[in-house]
Amino acid sequence: MTKSAVIKVTGLSKHYQTLAKPIVAIDNITFTLYSHQMTLFKGPSGSGKSSVLSAISGLLKPDAGEVNGFGQDIWALNRPMRTRFRRKHCGFVFQKVGLFPALTAIEQIITMLALMNVPDKIARERALECLDLVGLSDRFDSKPGELSGGQNQRVAIARMLAKRPDLIFCDEPTSALDGKTGSNIAGLLRKVAKETGAMVFCVTHDDRLSAFADRIVEIEDGKIISDNMVEK
Ligand SMILES: Nc1ncnc2c1ncn2[C@@H]1O[C@H](COP(=O)(O)OP(=O)(O)O)[C@@H](O)[C@H]1O
Ligand SMILES: [Mg+2]
Repeated sequence: MTKSAVIKVTGLSKHYQTLAKPIVAIDNITFTLYSHQMTLFKGPSGSGKSSVLSAISGLLKPDAGEVNGFGQDIWALNRPMRTRFRRKHCGFVFQKVGLFPALTAIEQIITMLALMNVPDKIARERALECLDLVGLSDRFDSKPGELSGGQNQRVAIARMLAKRPDLIFCDEPTSALDGKTGSNIAGLLRKVAKETGAMVFCVTHDDRLSAFADRIVEIEDGKIISDNMVEK
């Protein structure tokens, strides 16, 4: 298990134009993200966390700077190529889980894999495997309305894992959950980083997640103010 640099961010900046005044959301930041690691990106509300997550995952075009993913300057790619990069490498977990109300847990995953042209039999096996990984194999037949918030977040994570992403981006994945459920999810994301070698980048204002991180980067007003490995 050797960690390797998978995303190199250099001089990243982003501002938003509003009627009152321009807002600097990301202020010239530079950092590198590694495989096999869960990095927590922590800061108060409005500090620029979601903007950074979007800019480094190819969702939001920065004003300046470079995001290099697996040796490719992702903002120099044309849009279809950037979309292909994202589909191939990236998995996302958001606070709002975005499951289909009418589908069971296993169907949520199979439907997504069908869109990726994964044959049905393999999709079914992989879906069960991923539900097992999040501890929900016994609820494969349940719909979102029959599951708790934490269980639904785990289904969303299982669906994300079924894609086998090597870059995992989470934006406040636990903020709608109680402490114990939040800890379970954070522990699970850390386990995924260790077991699959994925890079996990988790944005949060929730201090409770710190215990699960390999590294904690703090951001304030769009600037990195500290960057530390966590002693275990
Ligand atoms: N689409 C937008 N238009 C204008 N301002 C925005 C927009 N998105 C975010 N902002 C502002 O940029 C700053 C950083 O926001 P954000 O990245 O969402 O921070 P965080 O995720 O840490 O709460 C905040 O001041 C926010 O109000
Ligand atoms: Mg945010």
